[in-house]
Amino acid sequence: MIEVRPLHTALAAEISGVSLGHLSEADFARVHAAFLERLTIVFREQKITPAQQVAFTERFGPAQPHPLGARVHRQGFPQVLVLENKPGRAGARNDFWHSDISFAAKPPQASILYALRVTEGVGDTLFANMYAAYDRLPAGMKARLEGLSAFHSSEKLAERARQAAGSDARPIDSIPRPAQHPVIRRHPETGRPALYVNPYFTTRFAGMNREQSRPLIDDLTARATVAANVYRHRWRAGDVVMWDNRCVMHYAEYDYDDSRPRLMNRTTAG
Ligand code: OGA
Ligand code: MN
Repeated sequence: MIEVRPLHTALAAEISGVSLGHLSEADFARVHAAFLERLTIVFREQKITPAQQVAFTERFGPAQPHPLGARVHRQGFPQVLVLENKPGRAGARNDFWHSDISFAAKPPQASILYALRVTEGVGDTLFANMYAAYDRLPAGMKARLEGLSAFHSSEKLAERARQAAGSDARPIDSIPRPAQHPVIRRHPETGRPALYVNPYFTTRFAGMNREQSRPLIDDLTARATVAANVYRHRWRAGDVVMWDNRCVMHYAEYDYDDSRPRLMNRTTAG
């Protein structure tokens, strides 16, 4: 029997009683509804192949390879990115608040991480509710942001790959033009306004330069990531965690070194 149990007041739920490799239409409808309501969904004790992860992802939208080839992928599955930390080959860092691939003209709706191997107690991932981040802004700030747009660039990913040569990050040869997105974005499925600014990819607001923009980006990030608005996921092997990039930012703790194995398969639904 499928059950949905909230994990934090702000967002996140654990769904039990399903096996993602064999999900009925009725159970998928429950998962989809919970995803829109709780924004981040945790499934424990899953056992799925790359093909099954792709099939589950495609129930939400097309499973997409990374647009810049920023990661190694599973052999035969360009849509399944491998995040791997192991002796002699460190995993690339993700310890910055971000929404995946917000530098694309059409950023993906959801990301799905499947933990094959973890070192318990390290490498937590944090998730922040960006609807609530908008809701908690003072009225004057909301008015200031309404109608404003911002530029999102992948330049930091290229920098990360250069700095972490020998890690699981792949080099990026050319940085595409930044994408421009509204700062207050209406979620296409729920219609609810969400704050869509992140300190990693967002470089500046339209009509402002980078120096003028940074304090506002940092202030919005600080407001969005207060503890009351953040769910911290403590990984166990077999976990599948999916989140809605349209209304969630995430951050991966980097409190480990290459002696603490961590292996994840990631898919992204466009
Ligand atoms: C990612 C990411 C978080 C993690 O793959 O986009 O941010 O905990 N990963 O590995
Ligand atoms: Mn990410």
